[in-house]
Amino acid sequence: MTMDNPIMTRAELEVRRGAKWAYHGADYLPSWVADMDFRAPAAVTEALTRLVAESDFGYAIRGGTLLGPAMGRAFAARMQDRFGWEVDPERVLACTDLVQGVFDTVQAFSAPGDKVVVQGPTYDPFREGIEDSGRVMVVDHMRYDDRTWSIDLDALRAALAESPLLLFCHPHNPTGRAFTRAELEAIGQIAIEQDAVIASDEIWADFMLDAEQHVPFASISPEIAERTVTMYSAGKSFGLAGLRCAVLHFGSAALQERFHATFPPRMLGGANIMGVEATTVAWESGNAWFEQVLDAVRSNRASMEAFLAEHAEQLEAAYPTSTYLYWVDCSRLGLEESPSDFFKREAQVVFTSGAEFGADYAQYVRVNLATSPEIFDQILAQAGKALDNRGAGRG
Ligand SMILES: Cc1ncc(COP(=O)(O)O)c(C=O)c1O
Repeated sequence: MTMDNPIMTRAELEVRRGAKWAYHGADYLPSWVADMDFRAPAAVTEALTRLVAESDFGYAIRGGTLLGPAMGRAFAARMQDRFGWEVDPERVLACTDLVQGVFDTVQAFSAPGDKVVVQGPTYDPFREGIEDSGRVMVVDHMRYDDRTWSIDLDALRAALAESPLLLFCHPHNPTGRAFTRAELEAIGQIAIEQDAVIASDEIWADFMLDAEQHVPFASISPEIAERTVTMYSAGKSFGLAGLRCAVLHFGSAALQERFHATFPPRMLGGANIMGVEATTVAWESGNAWFEQVLDAVRSNRASMEAFLAEHAEQLEAAYPTSTYLYWVDCSRLGLEESPSDFFKREAQVVFTSGAEFGADYAQYVRVNLATSPEIFDQILAQAGKALDNRGAGRG
């Protein structure tokens, strides 16, 4: 098997046709959409190459079953291996992607006109899943204190008193916050008291950057599990988002039946062989590759910390313990435009605009650490120069 080297050079990335590098063009360094700049694990590339070489694109089976049950088994093995969580493969539904899962759970577990609760700042497709389904989004804004974002439990309790569904992001995009067992217990208890379903988007679960372990929400207790849908995929962790393959896990048969009352088992379509092949191979044999990715992300996190310390009068951000994202408050810059527009024009660097996560966050940017340390240093050098120029101009 080929040795893995996830690091890609700028020249290699610039010819990619994906959104991250192609959308804004070669004049800009991209640090926006949550995609990574890493070469896929060799095992994944080899598995996909084999499918192509054999022209094996017909109806597929793996391990003697159709791909849906095969994904159930792969997910169960992954949860056991990575998080020590025992999962019944029968409770798993393969789907296209997590955003589809968001729409499905909103439509299955709430009615038109219902309120659905999310954390603020809010990953925008959550808003779309709620509003495009004719529901009303209620934002429980997280609190920021001492470089940490946390859930406002009183506000959550009040919001869930009027809502059948909590759409939860854990670990949290964009703040990089991974919730502790104690926090999840408290949130789960509120969901039980208010009889709400929890849809827990755990697409970022693999990206734990320190000693802390990810705690799957549904693993906390059987009472929480029975009202929790878990969403997960290899899309973020292995850079496979374009292959469109994800899973929904239902914490009880009753929850699964409720879901299938709205979406009968085959209604969402079957799984795609390229996505299933890449996902299962990545989960089975991608851990060493993923450690290299985590090392690059940690190294970039350290560079970002140094950058924030240098620009402490202009920028403020929580220390992310998870994800490959930094959620940076630029309000002290006093800009009359979005900081992402400022950095794009003045630094030729594209960060995601905070406005995408809610109107209250228009003076934030989300920075993407998932690139080589060399490229990330260049991003920071360009951004730093723009900040210095602004400081000089105003001083
Ligand atoms: C919290 C969260 N959920 C879902 C997604 C997208 O998942 P998918 O591409 O499977 O729809 C992202 C991508 O950034 C995300 O951050």
